[in-house]
Amino acid sequence: MYKTVSVCRACGLGSGGPPTLKESAAAGPPQSSAKLQKVFSLGLQPLANDFCTGQEEQAGFAPLEVMLCPNCSNAQLSVVVNPQILYSKYRYVTSTSQTMREHFDRILSMLPLASRSMKFLEIGSNDGLFLKFLKDHGHQIYGVDPAANLCEKARKAGLDVCCDFWGEQVGREVACWRPDFIIARHVFCHVENWAGFIKGLEAVAEPETLICIEVPYVQDLLKKGEFDTIYHEHTSYFSVKAMAHLLAASSLRLHRIDSLTIHGGALMVQLRHRDSVCPPDKSVSATLNSEECGAEAWREFDFKCHAKIGALQSFVDQARTNGKTVVGYGASAKSTVWINACRFTRKQISFITDTTAEKLYRFSPGTDIPIVDEGALTRDLPDYAICFAWNYLPEILEKEKIFLSKGGKFIVPHPDIKVVP
Ligand code: TMP
Repeated sequence: MYKTVSVCRACGLGSGGPPTLKESAAAGPPQSSAKLQKVFSLGLQPLANDFCTGQEEQAGFAPLEVMLCPNCSNAQLSVVVNPQILYSKYRYVTSTSQTMREHFDRILSMLPLASRSMKFLEIGSNDGLFLKFLKDHGHQIYGVDPAANLCEKARKAGLDVCCDFWGEQVGREVACWRPDFIIARHVFCHVENWAGFIKGLEAVAEPETLICIEVPYVQDLLKKGEFDTIYHEHTSYFSVKAMAHLLAASSLRLHRIDSLTIHGGALMVQLRHRDSVCPPDKSVSATLNSEECGAEAWREFDFKCHAKIGALQSFVDQARTNGKTVVGYGASAKSTVWINACRFTRKQISFITDTTAEKLYRFSPGTDIPIVDEGALTRDLPDYAICFAWNYLPEILEKEKIFLSKGGKFIVPHPDIKVVP
């Protein structure tokens, strides 16, 4: 089901011989005897999106441990779960929330669009929500995604997609399409073979192709203690330092970096070909100079997160002892991490509500907690709902006015556990 990884996928440290990728001159080559260091662990955990019915067998458990590279500060998991298991039938669909629509508008506003219809290639196009958004804005689109069920959904919506994992071979196949923009939203952190991913980009990128990689940022993870974004699908926790090391061996370079608020804090990392006439933006060196994602930052994170897990366990145990009812709101992958880290079962959490049809009437991975429709919140009126979709909190508070007006309270897990209102 999974394999152990001991080589840094950004700089090659741990390969036991010469680095697999050329190092940037500044940092020098990694020591061949140096090893990745374990900086965070949640022990054995189920796969975060393995929502099964009572009749289906779960894929199983795998260690959830973060390893830090002492050479380039890349943070990655100690194992990689077989991608076929994770993605061939994938239940994560991009949220159709208001927050996401506003985010799509923001992305488009960041791009140097010409007045003509532009050509977009989206890597990790999921069910085609962003492709459809681009098409509705008059652009030409093509998507690549490995999940057969989601590609089928995208095709049914009239979108052009190819079902595959992004890499050098697919890059060569789609190169003739010559996109103006390549967009990869929240896919880079899922990728095992970073070198292959970059080779795929190189196969397509022409001197003025703009490559936009949207990725959760390790700095937000560390500062806000967002440990619930650590799960097996996220093989790495992105830092610009690690990306600089990775690109040193390629024909691409960092071009511009913007902060985004989506999913608890992300970056839009723009890459360009080294032959591009556009000079790199000053945001690249500013971000590189301010990044703090070394061993000390991970030590503080580890302490903070285990304290948060203890705090939620105590809160829920106390509430249940006092006869209060507790449910979950949003069966996000983050909910799986929280629930298994806290060892909650149906005794503590009666159910989790979710808007995604694909998740309904299944169980939260690793537990006996059922996923039900969002109407259950106002039907059952529990005392507390733990907001596992905390990244959409403002719109959830707006939407769930009835629950709140009848005395219901949300427990919000980040940055510190708090009860709202
Ligand atoms: P995400 O943070 O990975 O996008 O997952 C959020 C999950 O929460 C997803 O399964 C959809 C669900 N959700 C709700 O159930 N209600 C809501 O109002 C929102 C915004 C999301």
